[in-house]
Amino acid sequence: MDGPAEWPREQGSPDTDGGPIVDGLDDPVESWSRVAGHRFDAKGAFPAGERPVGERESVELLALLPNQVISRHAKSGENSVVHFMDHGRRGRSGGDPTVSRRAGVDGCPPVAGSAHHTERVGIEGDAAVDVIRVRRSGPLEGSVRVAGAKNSALKLMAAAVLAPGRHTLRNVPRIADVALMAELLERMGATVSRGPDDLDVLTIDVPDVMDPEAPYDLVEKMRASIVVLGPLLARFGEARVSVPGGDDFGHRPIDMHLRGLEDLGATFTTSHGVIEGRVERLLGARVLLEYPSVGATENLLLAAVTAKGTTVIDNAAREPEIADLAAFLTAMGAEVSGGGGSTITVEGVERLHPAEHSVIPDRIEAATYLAAVGMTGGSIAVEGARVDHMEMLLDRLAAMGLRVDDGGDRLWATAPGPTGRLVSVDVSTLPYPGVATDYKPLLVALLSVADGVGILTENVFAGRFRYIPELVRMGADIRVEGHHAVVRGVEALSGAPVRAPDIRAGAALVVAGLAAEGETVVADAHHVARGYQDLVGNLARLGADVALGSAVGEA
Ligand code: EPZ
Repeated sequence: MDGPAEWPREQGSPDTDGGPIVDGLDDPVESWSRVAGHRFDAKGAFPAGERPVGERESVELLALLPNQVISRHAKSGENSVVHFMDHGRRGRSGGDPTVSRRAGVDGCPPVAGSAHHTERVGIEGDAAVDVIRVRRSGPLEGSVRVAGAKNSALKLMAAAVLAPGRHTLRNVPRIADVALMAELLERMGATVSRGPDDLDVLTIDVPDVMDPEAPYDLVEKMRASIVVLGPLLARFGEARVSVPGGDDFGHRPIDMHLRGLEDLGATFTTSHGVIEGRVERLLGARVLLEYPSVGATENLLLAAVTAKGTTVIDNAAREPEIADLAAFLTAMGAEVSGGGGSTITVEGVERLHPAEHSVIPDRIEAATYLAAVGMTGGSIAVEGARVDHMEMLLDRLAAMGLRVDDGGDRLWATAPGPTGRLVSVDVSTLPYPGVATDYKPLLVALLSVADGVGILTENVFAGRFRYIPELVRMGADIRVEGHHAVVRGVEALSGAPVRAPDIRAGAALVVAGLAAEGETVVADAHHVARGYQDLVGNLARLGADVALGSAVGEA
């Protein structure tokens, strides 16, 4: 409590009986997944007088960051932006997470009173919204717009650390992982905010002095946090990043990141689960990656831009997200050539400046809608999707019988007629331009109802098969042998309770549910919200029978 404008949450504010109530606001992943795209009841989010004190208002949560909540008032349609004055710096450094904070105001209408966070309330019936309910659907019709790419936005946010000042990122998806990266940047000293006019615009104010540390509680939740290592070493000559643990794909080492940064002159020690990197001044060098790792390429690129001299990254990852990062760095004043190719050359510059950039569309999200129409039949437009980022996948989908046409700034996808059925193919995942490992759960779902037998070979993440027992629960006929999944298509799946082990697998289980008799209930849906802005809403708009539901309190 640091002033008269703050009051204990139990009492509410003087002019309302409480601030906006958002369940679990301390944890962006939790909060987002529970309320994203969902109407929820809140109290006190609007100016006193606009409603009787104590009445519960219907609010749609539009965006959530550690220090900011943007919601839309159901009646007036106007947006409210609530800032927390402590910029979300809480948690580890102390502070009672239940202590209320003074709310500042930005946008319209002004928000009177305090903003509270609470473990309670927020969602009707106080039930946790952490399941997605799906019923057999189709044919899907209509159009859907893909958001910005998660795997680009997170790295662009980390890149901002390289230059003090105000950066502007456009087309940033409103997903939990972006909120987590925002929290990480804020813990280091930056200020991150959205909107207020365009909610897809993220502003990052990077200070001159930062705390160069990525703590365990964030690295554990989001492995992509490791990408701050390169920028922190480049800018401050030191970095402390917790060692990422394993995840649902199994063990995911970062040895290539560290060896590459050592080639540029950094030294590392590890103790108590924290990697500490130091360097006087990074020096350009030739780095040959033994495998085109996306994360290692990004960390090296981020470190090399202000290193002294020339850096050449050979066998670099070629994913579109790397080219996007190179474009942002170039806008910041870096001299990068070959981004998106196998050899990236960087001429180090003394300093960078803040920049503005628009995130490329999310190719994995686009693929999710293509898979959905493949499951249900129908014809849809996927707005914003880029054919040139998805060529190998589209080739495989065409071989299965899904017709995809390039409409310039959109894709048109048409499934075989009502009685038609996709045919099975074999697919191997590979680094870009190969078929991405992130598409694989969607492809397994499609193959599970296709005509024939398809073999899916995973070449990127050995352990990425954990969702297969869930599909088998739904009646799929899949046998895993080493890094191959042998999928024998069945006529129809049958709805069942299943659990999402990660982002992409969760989305694939939802897609599978579209072709399953009865109801499929996908639990642990917060994984999906880590990477999808509004998967449920978008599928529903295409005509799918899908809804967010409660894990508790429902029959
Ligand atoms: C990125 O992970 C993506 N994540 C992943 O998407 C994606 O599946 C993956 O690239 C492959 O395309 C983000 O961009 C945040 P890698 P990343 O380094 O960078 C091994 C999603 O759902 N390896 O290319 O971690 C590694 O174990 C996520 O959005 C080492 O052995 O992928 C894996 O087998 C999931 N040592 C392979 O390389 C290293 O130092 C590819 O990993 C680094 C990687």
